[in-house]
Amino acid sequence: MTTTRVAVVGAGRMGQVHCRIVSENPRATLAAVVDPFEDSGRRAAEQHAVPWFATLDEAITATKLDAVIIAVPDKLHVGVTVHALEVGLHVLVEKPLADTLEGALTIAASAEKSSSKVLVGHVLRHDPRFRLAANTVCSGKIGESVHVRASRIVPRSVGVANRGASPIYMYQGIHDIDLVQWITGSPIVRVCATTACKILPALGVEGVDVALILCELEDGTIGSIEISWALLDSAPSGLASSFELYGTEGTLKVDVTAEGVDLLTADGHSLPNTVLSPELDGSLEGVVPQQFEYFLQMIEFDRPSRIGIDEAVSAARVLDAIGESLTTGAWAKVRL
Ligand SMILES: NC(=O)c1ccc[n+]([C@@H]2O[C@H](COP(=O)([O-])OP(=O)(O)OC[C@H]3O[C@@H](n4cnc5c(N)ncnc54)[C@H](O)[C@@H]3O)[C@@H](O)[C@H]2O)c1
Repeated sequence: MTTTRVAVVGAGRMGQVHCRIVSENPRATLAAVVDPFEDSGRRAAEQHAVPWFATLDEAITATKLDAVIIAVPDKLHVGVTVHALEVGLHVLVEKPLADTLEGALTIAASAEKSSSKVLVGHVLRHDPRFRLAANTVCSGKIGESVHVRASRIVPRSVGVANRGASPIYMYQGIHDIDLVQWITGSPIVRVCATTACKILPALGVEGVDVALILCELEDGTIGSIEISWALLDSAPSGLASSFELYGTEGTLKVDVTAEGVDLLTADGHSLPNTVLSPELDGSLEGVVPQQFEYFLQMIEFDRPSRIGIDEAVSAARVLDAIGESLTTGAWAKVRL
């Protein structure tokens, strides 16, 4: 059986998850791990008994590749993604598409010229709860959107591990920016953002604890997005998150804090993850592996991406406006 040969580029926290997902999928082969830092790169490669390379070019020269999964820090997405597209590889690039609007437009132009498949890792596009929400709004059952609220509160250890590499509204908040635009079907046109920081600086890390973003959408809907790294690591769930939409004919709420299983054991109280990427019978299952499965189907069966590059660029436009609002302290228009 022919399998799709994949290199994972960036062997950090997310890259290691991707390595595992690729190696557990029978229709794919993890062909290489690429990371300039030998410690992380070699360790991840050895775990899966595959070669480690310091650069993508070395991997391309040494082994046959069909696709790459790009899990390098946000600010490095543009260079690696454009290079992978130029050499004809299919690309799954982690969210956000890029850390700047200009970078996102550069990738979009490169993807336009290429015949490769590109999937941007807005992983919640593959989550049945949010797909159901988007389908319900699209069916008209909620009527016209009036106001929307999205929140994502994650443990402070995530902020510590990020080490100031990306602002919170980019690293975490990009999920909610995309959810708001995708589920309502209307782009954000104006934002006003503010932040607070007490926890991370005390832990010796550059960065804010929370960003609160007010937004106005093209169709007149107003909303708020609240993104925080303030959750205690001892919280029973590693994520306190919800999405609420109030419309003229109905309301919808997706609550992803508890995922149906409540455990009380000698280890304490926990609300384990059962949907995103639970480990079951020794393998990762759920939405994150489903995203990779969908990427394989794009390559094998020419399925269209579940998120257009234009939609990922649109989320990058909102990031750009949030940055401007934080600098000026005023409302900022999303640049079109
Ligand atoms: N989809 C999600 O839910 C989700 C969750 C976490 C992170 N992410 C995204 O995944 C990406 C990686 O985040 P992370 O938290 O794993 O970061 P990380 O810092 O843990 O890992 C990044 C890795 O990239 C390596 N690297 C740096 N420069 C490189 C280069 N030029 N070529 C190859 N490797 C290079 C680093 O050595 C490091 O091992 C980011 O874009 C982040 O936003 C997505």
